[in-house]
Amino acid sequence: MKKITLNYNWFFKESFDKKDILDNSTQGFKNVNIPHTNKEIPYNNFDESIYEFISCYKKLFTLDESYKNKRLIVEFGACAHHARVYLNGHFIQENFNGYSAFYVDITDHVKIGENILVVELDSRETLDIPPFGGVIDYLTYGGIYRDVYLHVYNLDYIKTCFLTPVDVLASPKIKLDIQTNNTSSKELVFTVLDHNAKEILNKKIKQGNNTKISETFEINGDITLWDIDNPYLYKAVVIYNEDKYEYNFGFREAVFKRNGFFLNGKNIKLRGLNRHQSFPYVGNAMPKSAQIADAEFLKFDLGLNIVRTAHYPNSQHFLDHCDKIGLLVFTEIPGWQHIGESKNWRKVCVNNVKDMILQDYNHPSIILWGVRINESVDDADLYKKTNQTARELDQSRQTGGVRYIPRSQFLEDVYTFNDFSHAGGRIVTMPKFFVAGRKPYLITEFAGHMYPTKSFDHEQKRREHVLRHARVLSSTYKHKGISGCIGWCMSDYNTHRDFGSGDRICYHGVSDMFRNKKLAGIFYSSQQKKKGVLDIMSNMEIGDVAGGQTGPVLMITNCDTVKLFKNNQEIMTYDVKSLRTKSRKLKYLPNPPIEIRDIIGDQLEKLNRFSKKDANRIKNILLSAKESGPTKAVIKHLLPAGLVLAKNKMRISDIIDLYGQYVTTWGSKQNAFKFVGYIDGKEVAQTTKSCVRSVHYEINADKELLIEDQTYDCTRISIKALSDVGNVLPYSNDVINISVDGPVEIIGPKQISLIGGMRAAWVKTIGKSGDAVITFSNKERNIAEKIKISVKKEKVETL
Ligand code: GAL
Repeated sequence: MKKITLNYNWFFKESFDKKDILDNSTQGFKNVNIPHTNKEIPYNNFDESIYEFISCYKKLFTLDESYKNKRLIVEFGACAHHARVYLNGHFIQENFNGYSAFYVDITDHVKIGENILVVELDSRETLDIPPFGGVIDYLTYGGIYRDVYLHVYNLDYIKTCFLTPVDVLASPKIKLDIQTNNTSSKELVFTVLDHNAKEILNKKIKQGNNTKISETFEINGDITLWDIDNPYLYKAVVIYNEDKYEYNFGFREAVFKRNGFFLNGKNIKLRGLNRHQSFPYVGNAMPKSAQIADAEFLKFDLGLNIVRTAHYPNSQHFLDHCDKIGLLVFTEIPGWQHIGESKNWRKVCVNNVKDMILQDYNHPSIILWGVRINESVDDADLYKKTNQTARELDQSRQTGGVRYIPRSQFLEDVYTFNDFSHAGGRIVTMPKFFVAGRKPYLITEFAGHMYPTKSFDHEQKRREHVLRHARVLSSTYKHKGISGCIGWCMSDYNTHRDFGSGDRICYHGVSDMFRNKKLAGIFYSSQQKKKGVLDIMSNMEIGDVAGGQTGPVLMITNCDTVKLFKNNQEIMTYDVKSLRTKSRKLKYLPNPPIEIRDIIGDQLEKLNRFSKKDANRIKNILLSAKESGPTKAVIKHLLPAGLVLAKNKMRISDIIDLYGQYVTTWGSKQNAFKFVGYIDGKEVAQTTKSCVRSVHYEINADKELLIEDQTYDCTRISIKALSDVGNVLPYSNDVINISVDGPVEIIGPKQISLIGGMRAAWVKTIGKSGDAVITFSNKERNIAEKIKISVKKEKVETL
């Protein structure tokens, strides 16, 4: 058995002609590699119809004698959207699902010698299949955008192999379900290996006269459970008809109950975000590394324990990595609000459930199948079928079906609901009982369109964005019956004309399209303890807010103590825990953001020699002016102000001077406020707020070694404009030129501007090994930053 990459050396053209199927000429075609998008698009402001057309993908390959008498199956990871596959002029198979893998048996038409494999790919949104028919808040793109492989088996082979852990907490067993293409009685050997390749099971099984094998085996001895903190994977090896098949799986029990979600018997509050799989310029067509990077971003940077693959199944690379790092997944069938009326549409919809489960069954990270079109209305006929299909194929997982209507028809096991009730007011989450009665309950979306926020928005907006997420999350932690909440969404995304900000972008992410975190993203990061997070929401610049009222600052942190230094002098220490206890706001969160009022400490006593009482009075006046403006402050504190002035023989102008000294950043004494965060006495994070004196760029590659093997590799290189004290400059839109020396290519434009002081560029390999230097320059600022990337091209078998 072999799995050979077919990702290299395809020929592509933006049209299709019947004669392409038998013609080995590549004239008029472009040489491309998979993953491939049928049209590169600009960052924003374009017309989405540009990727809607029928295209032709052609692959010419030669087989030698060793392929004789073999079963040859071509696996297409995903083709958007209606693919018709031809081999040597014969139509072999078509597929109507742009988001799941399909398998084409080419055995009967393949030749020893030269072959022409052609995909006629219809990427128009007028197709009568999901997700089309209504409007859609995401772009559907086109292209063969996930990997293509040739599987070479002996003629009798295993089509599917499901591994189901049973009774893992009491007496662990493994259930093996195999489907073959033949009924000839064969023996197979089934082994299960642990991390050290030690066999924990070894069984010989007789096939009998059936294409199906189904048996359950006791595991003797201890097993290690798959968990979010210890995602232990086992390897199952099956030898069948002299071919060796390998599958990863994990022992775990995942169940939603009336009182929450339980993993291996332990109640876990699910904290997650929805992920769209799209990227700038190339849409969904990004290789393995980019998929892995997203999973890592969600788990380790944003500190989440669940992702929803809104609104379609995601790449195997993404799911494999979720298995590996312990990120739970709620995955669902393709679609957006609209249910088609035609027989074909509905048939494809049910079939999409099957495709999803067949391809994703063995992933321990997947804990719930979404078998409803996202936010569609009730349709008993359709959803009875989707639920039934899921239950027939998988008795080990529950079903969900995402809706926005409370108490709608419940044919699933978990009431999965998009709760957009929080509009900034007192209502934060809807009462569970009102939405879902006594059923298991999960909030699958919130925030999003209720508060679109750009990384270059003014600071009150970015701060409220944080609070919208924080309030819903806190309420979810408060209510036991809510299994968790999955916010909308991980990253901004390109969308249709009906949605977004009119520029074809939905700015709903807690990060931008380049996976640069907005403040709301930093808030999510601060809910974990693994690395120190400290950010202060406010530039503390009076010119950035109405009336110069900078207000209390919002401290987003997981530190237990924070010290404030003003112009390098220690001013005061904030005991974060006791401030939180006092404020009681958002108190159910692991680490609630807190409002910091006092930035003066005891300076008025120390430097201006006021009595403690007067210092406090003056402090209150100054902070009140900071929060609600001088007029209100004077009215509010008229009496104490009069007393202080009279007692200390001061004039109003003296108070104004103190305001300049302690609050604003005016004049010769520019203030720098440095906050230093500690966990258990150890400094873990710091941030300084002060005016910008100079600008530099921070450029980081997610990885510095690219390996081209099964397909091309890529890495994201992030670019941030930072001030001299290391703050991202949210209003910087510097133009950056990118140049490359060496064996990589930039995805997208080579001249870009920063957006909210940030951006990223992905570079990809081009089939050669060596060292590459990528230079990011801005002439006016006299900056030219270089990043080195090494590329290793592995020798892999390909056709
Ligand atoms: C939901 C929908 C998502 C996205 C979101 C924006 O209704 O399910 O796909 O459009 O709104 O907030």
